[in-house]
This record gives sequence, C-alpha cells and structure tokens, in this order.
Amino acid sequence: MSNETNVTWHEHSVTREAREKRNAHKGCVIWFTGLSGSGKSTVANSLDHKLHQSKIQSVVLDGDNVRHGLNAAPGMLKDTHGDEFSNRFGLGFSAIDREENIRRIGAVAEIFAQTGVVALTAFISPYRTDRDKVRNTLKDGEFIEVFVDTPIEVCEQRDPKGLYKKARAGEIKGFTGIDDPYEAPLQPELVLFAAEKTPDILADEIIEYLKDKNIIGG
Ligand SMILES: Nc1ncnc2c1ncn2[C@@H]1O[C@H](COP(=O)(O)OP(=O)(O)OP(=O)(O)O)[C@@H](O)[C@H]1O
Ligand SMILES: [Mg+2]
Repeated sequence: MSNETNVTWHEHSVTREAREKRNAHKGCVIWFTGLSGSGKSTVANSLDHKLHQSKIQSVVLDGDNVRHGLNAAPGMLKDTHGDEFSNRFGLGFSAIDREENIRRIGAVAEIFAQTGVVALTAFISPYRTDRDKVRNTLKDGEFIEVFVDTPIEVCEQRDPKGLYKKARAGEIKGFTGIDDPYEAPLQPELVLFAAEKTPDILADEIIEYLKDKNIIGG
C-alpha cells in the first residue's frame, strides 16, 4: 500500500477567521508578475514596508531568495545523497521546472493567506496557466494578480543584474522576453505602469485596491 493513502488532512483548531479577527485584516496573495527588471521586487518591498508600518502582517516571497532555499537549483542542494537527490528536487529554468517553481511558491503563499497574512510574491511567473493554477487554489478575491507592465526596452536598459546582456550574448538560454515567452495576464486585478511611476506611488495604488476590497481597513 502506498504511503499516500495514510496521509489525512489535519483540521486546525485556530480558525482563519480567528486569525483575521486578531490581525484586523484579511489574508490574501498579491501575485506580482512581469519581465525581469520590470520592478516586481522593488514594488513588493515598498508595499511590504508600508503594510508593516500600518501594523499589517505581510511577507515577501522573492524569486532569487526562494531559488536559494525552497527551490534551490540542483547544484546548490548539498546533501548526503549526491546527484540523485539534487537532480530530482532541485529546480532550474526549463518549462517544467518553472511550473514546479510556481506551484511550490503558490502552495507556500496559500498557507500564508490561510493564516491571515498578506503574502507578496515577486516572480516573473511567465506562463499564464501556471499563474491560473495558483489562482484556482484560492477563493475568489484572494488571488490578486498584479501585472508589472514595463516595456522590455525599459527592462533591458535597467538590466541591474546584467542578465539581458548575457541573454543577448547567448550566455543564458531560455531567458524570458528574449528567447522564452512572457504571457501577460489577460485579466489582472491590477496593472502597474512601472516605467512611468515611482515604486512608492505604485505601492500606494495597491494599498488603495486592498482598502477598496476591504482586505485591509482604512
Ligand atoms: N517604478 C520604477 N521606476 C524606476 N525604476 C524602477 C522602478 N521599479 C524598479 N526600478 C528599478 O528597476 C530595476 C529592476 O527592478 P526589480 O529588481 O524590482 O525588478 P524585478 O521585476 O524584481 O526583476 P527580476 O525578475 O529580475 O527579479 C532596479 O534597478 C530598480 O531600482
Ligand atoms: Mg526581483
């Protein structure tokens, strides 16, 4: 018999409602998506600071950091089982690895939302179906897709990590926007024009949305 059948769902006695009542705000997932260099991390961090100052429980799950831990690349996983372990559980940038990357992040973000936290995720998350799968794990209104709509020319000019330069030179393969697709959301809850406005103003736009939807007070 497979172990799977012995895994049962454990009911938690501290309810989500109780947590949200204590926090005086609701939990949700604010899912930033956009090209590399579009401004996801910058806006997410500005928003995180503002929420924190307003005594709102928030957390940021950010691309690079998650790829150092939860979703580390095969070569980064140091363990006693050698390559076999690394190759099975480490994640790279192939389509299937990107899909698993987003699935795991979505699952973690969902736990935060369930515990009454405003979870901010800052991943390119280029594929529409992967984002929609996360949306479908959450209740209506809990998944707030924020499209950081910065033209690729602007992203490429910013290029703080030098990644576009490397992609253009063929040193990185499968780079989103260059030789891998970016599928823009069809019906995002919010679109941020991050080539035209400051991160501070964009973070305020999200706060207004959260107030409007009664996720946070004020
Ligand atoms: N609204 C903005 N106006 C001007 N510059 C910005 C804005 N948002 C971000 N930047 C700048 O653009 C660069 C890229 O931003 P950021 O690192 O937030 O992008 P990202 O979307 O998280 O990219 P990646 O997917 O590679 O992590 C940074 O140098 C940042 O300072
Ligand atoms: Mg980032």
